[in-house]
Amino acid sequence: MPVITEIEDLKRLYKRRVPKMFYDYCESGSWSEQTFRENSSDFDEIYFRQRVAVDMANRSTKTTMLGEEVSMPVALAPVGMTGMQHWDGEIKAAKAAEKFGVPYCLSTMSICSIEDVAANTSRPFWLQVYTLTDDDYMQRLFDRAKEAKCSAAVITVDLQLLGQRHKDLKNGLSAPPKLTPKTLADLATRWSWGLGMLSTKRRQFGNIVGHVADVDDPSSLMAWTAEKFDQSLDWDRIRKFRDMWNGPLIIKGIMDPRDAQEAVNVGADAIIVSNHGGRQLDGALSSIRALGPVLEAVGDKVEVHLDSGVRSGQDVLKALAMGAQGVHIGRAYIYGLGAMGQAGVTKALEIIHKELDVSMALCGRRRVTDVDRDILLVPEGFSGRWDDQLRNV
Ligand SMILES: Cc1cc2nc3c(=O)[nH]c(=O)nc-3n(C[C@H](O)[C@H](O)[C@H](O)COP(=O)(O)O)c2cc1C
Repeated sequence: MPVITEIEDLKRLYKRRVPKMFYDYCESGSWSEQTFRENSSDFDEIYFRQRVAVDMANRSTKTTMLGEEVSMPVALAPVGMTGMQHWDGEIKAAKAAEKFGVPYCLSTMSICSIEDVAANTSRPFWLQVYTLTDDDYMQRLFDRAKEAKCSAAVITVDLQLLGQRHKDLKNGLSAPPKLTPKTLADLATRWSWGLGMLSTKRRQFGNIVGHVADVDDPSSLMAWTAEKFDQSLDWDRIRKFRDMWNGPLIIKGIMDPRDAQEAVNVGADAIIVSNHGGRQLDGALSSIRALGPVLEAVGDKVEVHLDSGVRSGQDVLKALAMGAQGVHIGRAYIYGLGAMGQAGVTKALEIIHKELDVSMALCGRRRVTDVDRDILLVPEGFSGRWDDQLRNV
């Protein structure tokens, strides 16, 4: 077993162990992948201010996210088809999050169902919902989330239609994978993944198949989702979902202060500055650049979280110091899951926690709640000449 010291090590192992179709599904952005790349590389433009001879003993990364106590302000983001990256993947990721003391958010498009995850965990998790045209299905989804004691709903608003990822089309992505000579050749070299998948019954979209009439195979499922994603979504409709779910609400996929204000108006308790990990609008600003103007607009009214491009504890610290109250990671924990199952998710969290803790100390801070912009050197105009336009709420 190689020595694992950073998220990149997990990614290398993940690439070797998971079929190419699912690796590519995770490790890609839409079209030219500009936003996907810049989500991470833009963190490198921000520098820390090193401080010395400051008491660094007795540190703590504990705080709260949406009123919930967390061991560090890092949540596991909703990732569709996690159960194809590793058998029973959603259950394993949720268990790792629970043990570590951080929130887990289950995707609507998960393989393990809401009930599967609830039955295997005791910490309440969050449910992410897509905005679909089928009101009955939406109401049932919220009811199932309540029944499962989910502590928050996350409504994703940046996917009314799908940004194109070339590799998924070329690979013929599906769950479970279609058995063609190409996929069989690939699966043959990933035998432990294959054996694992054979050992579980959870190989389809668990929140949809069995919960919607006439959806029982991959092709009827694809047709159902294509038809149900709501291209005419507007804020009135989001308000309707807010009324269907009367618990804590997070709106995910906000990049513009005007939309942030709308999210506040419909009663969101938190928003996530996110461009879906560079999977939707290619050419959009990275989330870390978009964060400042959003905070200026609504930072005193709701919790503002960030995701997209976070691959280390240093990235987490930079986002927190820029003003985010929580950070969500997607690919960073999926690499761990695909590499080593639940232990890999734990490893990813441990790596990020250590990097966050030590970097915070070397910036002269002992508590994550004391971290602020003073620890950073941010290039002038980091949100660029877009600043004025973005602030024009
Ligand atoms: C493979 C994959 C599947 C995803 N599926 C969903 C999803 O079902 N729902 C959702 O709201 N976001 C989804 N996302 C976006 C993540 O929740 C999150 O915004 C993104 O991964 C953050 O970027 P990062 O991966 O660079 O950390 C997905 C991301 C990836 C990589």
